[in-house]
Amino acid sequence: MPDHAALKLHTHVFHPGPSGRTLLLLHGTGGDEHDLVPLARHVDAQAAILSPRGNVLERGAPRFFRRLAEGVFDLDDLRVRVLALRDWLTAAIEHYAIDPAQLTALGYSNGANTAAAMMLLHPGALRSAILWRAMVTVEDAPPINTSGRTLIVSGRTDPILPLPNAQRLASMLRERGIDVRHEVLSAGHELTRDDIDLARDWLARDWLGRA
Ligand code: MLT
Repeated sequence: MPDHAALKLHTHVFHPGPSGRTLLLLHGTGGDEHDLVPLARHVDAQAAILSPRGNVLERGAPRFFRRLAEGVFDLDDLRVRVLALRDWLTAAIEHYAIDPAQLTALGYSNGANTAAAMMLLHPGALRSAILWRAMVTVEDAPPINTSGRTLIVSGRTDPILPLPNAQRLASMLRERGIDVRHEVLSAGHELTRDDIDLARDWLARDWLGRA
């Protein structure tokens, strides 16, 4: 039976799609469950969309875990929230009959950090993720041996997520057995058309690899 209590943890939308694929959208600080939907349609028009709203409020701005300052994270809160999001995802997969083998997370900024943390802390919970503007959050993530695929897209002049930090995240994921492609755009923190194009092309190849 689906765990309805767990499902209620996040306000969310689910838009069915004609393929067996699903994109899990994780928005950035101040976004909501609707934010990334138009971009996701450009990344994969045929995929279903599952999109939760972060349930932490920072002066009214939704996030997926608390931070103490910009780039300084409340790691105890992060661990609790990421575990709860994992449980919410398990309930949503059951409730909406999502195929977990055909699920890809698409996260931006705080949402990308959340997806990366889930891959590092809960091996197997996410097998595929596109991380737009991600950085290291959990410095002491356990030295697991897992698998999965990730595209990280960074902005060379991103003032919020410094490039060396994103490179460190790529290394952390690779050391744990995840196949990482890291692209660096001539961009800042904001998303660009190139982010969408890279995500669409990477995902198309990823699906082919899984078929
Ligand atoms: C953000 O503004 O969302 C940060 O850059 C990333 C985070 O807080 O996780």
